[in-house]
Amino acid sequence: MPSESDTASPPGTGPGGGVSVSSRVRPVARGRIVAIANQKGGVGKTTTCVNLAAALADVGRKVLLVDMDPQGNATTGSGVDKNDVDLTIGDVLLGEAKAADAVITVETAGYDLLPANQDLIAAEVALMEGGHKEQRLSHALRPIRQNYHHVFIDCPPALNMLTVNALAAAQGVLIPMQCEYYALEGLSTLLDTIERIRRRANPGLHVEGLLRTMYDVRNNLATEVSSQLMTHFGDKVYRTVVPRNIRLAEAPSHGLPVTRYDRGSRGAVAYLGLAGEIIRREREAHQGVSVRQRSR
Ligand SMILES: Nc1ncnc2c1ncn2[C@@H]1O[C@H](COP(=O)(O)OP(=O)(O)O)[C@@H](O)[C@H]1O
Ligand SMILES: [Mg+2]
Repeated sequence: MPSESDTASPPGTGPGGGVSVSSRVRPVARGRIVAIANQKGGVGKTTTCVNLAAALADVGRKVLLVDMDPQGNATTGSGVDKNDVDLTIGDVLLGEAKAADAVITVETAGYDLLPANQDLIAAEVALMEGGHKEQRLSHALRPIRQNYHHVFIDCPPALNMLTVNALAAAQGVLIPMQCEYYALEGLSTLLDTIERIRRRANPGLHVEGLLRTMYDVRNNLATEVSSQLMTHFGDKVYRTVVPRNIRLAEAPSHGLPVTRYDRGSRGAVAYLGLAGEIIRREREAHQGVSVRQRSR
C-alpha cells in the first residue's frame, strides 16, 4: 500500500529549502517553455516530466505538460486514457485544433495536459511535408503559454521532427540522463542538435540543466560518470539526484505522480527537491546572479 506519510516538505516551505514562501505567491517567470529531451529511451524523460510538473503544481505553480511522444506515456502516466481523448497534440500540430481546445485539466496531479497518442506519428509525417514545419509547436503554444508559469514538453526518444519542434518552441532544455558508459557520447550528439536549432531557429535556446536519474551510489561507474559530468558541465548539473526508486516505476500504472502515490518515497522527495532547486535558480537568475552567468 502506498503510504500517505509526508516526510517530504514541499519546496518553498520546507526546512533548509532556501526558498521562502513568497515563491508560492509570486513566481518570477511566466510562460517558460522547457523541453525535456534525450534521444535515448528509458532515461527518465517522462518520469521527470510528470513528477516535476506535479511537484511544481504542488507549490502553487500553474503548469502545462505537453506530450510530444506518440507512445503517450506522459498522458497515460497522468491518468488519462490516451485512446479516449477527443483532441490531441497531433490535431494541434496539423492545425486542426487550437491548443486551448485540446488541453485537459488533470485534477489528480494539479496540472494541465496536452495529450498524445499514436496519431502523432501521422502528424509527424505531415509536418515533414508542410511549411514552417519546425515552428508548428511554437506557434500553437503562443496563445496559451502565458496562462502558465511552466510549460514542460515530454520529447520522444529520437532527434526527429517532433523533438525539433519542441526545441524550436523552448527556451530551455532539461536533459535527464543515466550515469552510464555511453551517456556522455549521447549527450554530445544532443548538444550538437541543440546548437544547430539555436543557430537556425531559436537563438534564445539554452541547456537548462542536466539531471542525473536512476542513480545508484553503490555503482562505481555511475559515480565516475557523475564526476565527469560535474567537471564538464559544472553548475549546469542539478544538485538534486534522482535515485532508482520502485515507487517512481509503480506510480504511472496508477495514473498518478509519485507525490500523490507515495509522498514519503525517495522518488517523491527527489522530485520535490528538484522543483525547489528550479525555483531557487529562477530567483537567482531574476536577481541577476544566475547560475549561467557565474559559470561563464
Ligand atoms: N528513478 C527511477 N527509478 C526507478 N524507475 C524509474 C526511474 N525513472 C524512471 N523509471 C522507470 O524507467 C522506465 C523508463 O523511464 P521513462 O521516464 O519512461 O523514460 P523515457 O521517457 O526517457 O523513455 C519507466 O518504466 C519508468 O517507470
Ligand atoms: Mg518517455
